[in-house]
Amino acid sequence: MDIFRTKPLALAEKTPSQLKRALNLWDIVFIGIGAVVGVGIFVITGQAAASYAGPAIILSFILAGIGIGITALVYAELCSAFPLAGGAYNYTYFALGEFFAWLVGWNLLLEYGVATAAVATGWAGYLRAFLENNFNFYLPKAFSGPFNPQQGTFMDLFAFLGVIMIFLLVTIGIRKSALVNNFIVTLKLITLLIFVIFGLRYLNWKNFTNFMPYGWKGVLSGASLIVFAYLGFDALATLAEETKEVKKTLPKGLTISLTIITFLYIIVSFTLVGMLPYWEYEGKPDALAYAMYKVNEKLIGNFISLGAVITITSVLLGMAIGFTRVLYALARDGLMFKSFAEIHKKYFTPYKASLFGAVFLSFFAGFIPLRILAELVNIGTLFAYIIIGIAVILLKVKKTQEYRPLFKVPFPTIFLPLNLIFLLFIMLGLPIETWIRFIIWSILGILIYFLYGYKHSIAQKEKP
Ligand code: ALA
Repeated sequence: MDIFRTKPLALAEKTPSQLKRALNLWDIVFIGIGAVVGVGIFVITGQAAASYAGPAIILSFILAGIGIGITALVYAELCSAFPLAGGAYNYTYFALGEFFAWLVGWNLLLEYGVATAAVATGWAGYLRAFLENNFNFYLPKAFSGPFNPQQGTFMDLFAFLGVIMIFLLVTIGIRKSALVNNFIVTLKLITLLIFVIFGLRYLNWKNFTNFMPYGWKGVLSGASLIVFAYLGFDALATLAEETKEVKKTLPKGLTISLTIITFLYIIVSFTLVGMLPYWEYEGKPDALAYAMYKVNEKLIGNFISLGAVITITSVLLGMAIGFTRVLYALARDGLMFKSFAEIHKKYFTPYKASLFGAVFLSFFAGFIPLRILAELVNIGTLFAYIIIGIAVILLKVKKTQEYRPLFKVPFPTIFLPLNLIFLLFIMLGLPIETWIRFIIWSILGILIYFLYGYKHSIAQKEKP
């Protein structure tokens, strides 16, 4: 049994690409911001401050930002060595072999899939707030939140429908054009900057007096939840075949977009916890708009709700496309059921993978609370990042002939181990229930691999 068989890199490099190399540096930066900035900052910041970190949520953002920043450098190095579509799953296939590649792919499914549900939940919260505040339109209580009979909510209807809608759009092959993406990103930046400019006028320093109500442990748990706000940047690595001068542009684009995003998160979270006492954000699905309504800035509150509803859709779309593409890649390599790789004759999309997403993930969105979804996404993603972090170390240690990255992580003897330590540290801040869910998910993945993937893998069939 050879579960560590690898994909030959040379073979993949020779595969002619059908895609046009049209993306330049600023396209990459804008796509990065479009894919990353969403529910994390618009919704989860408030919840993480209220339940875990207090005003020290700003430190949680910095901690998570450093961890993810180093991982982004690792990604940048890998993209500059293997400029191939497919991203992390493919890198691991080359470096560590099939079993670990499967584990990465399986966890990327968790990342993109459950994140689609989580983002839909945050999006639904802002949509409800917008309709309530502007049109006096209230959903029946039973349909306005996840399954929680004690609170009188049974289903988040908008989130449920949001997931179905987005996967139907993905099925018919919708893609954001560069123009639409640039518009959305500009609106997103304006929305957040307006929040900061108006919010700072209501800053009350008293709100910072109890800066770390739950100590450093709270800061760490805050970072473990808020790391969600940084996820999605890895989608850039999948654009390798469409980027001009990819080996230079992609690492630079990753670094610039993550720097802008981190700066934005720090000023927005500072403003949010400075405006109102942190505990006020407990259970609020629309933290940024809520703060504005609370200080009687109704117009700004409305603008922020609408801005959030429009611009979070770009993250939703990115995550849903990511999910279908990873499922497609796994199925194409024989590790997942073949029908997920079937391409629709008219729309040219892996439609069965998308429809599966619509049916399965809409239930996650409709019935499970955002915090549980986000923590599950985080643990799976951090685990995948750890495997990738190990892959890059092994590629260097083994001095693999074919591994010639154009961009290299600076001071690798410090940064590469530090990357693993940071990721593990952030993972350890997640609650025990999340670990249990993750272990169940992993066992399921390992079973599928041994009962199905190993036998049906293309690598197996290509053996003499
Ligand atoms: N980073 C993405 C968001 O915050 C997943 O919505």
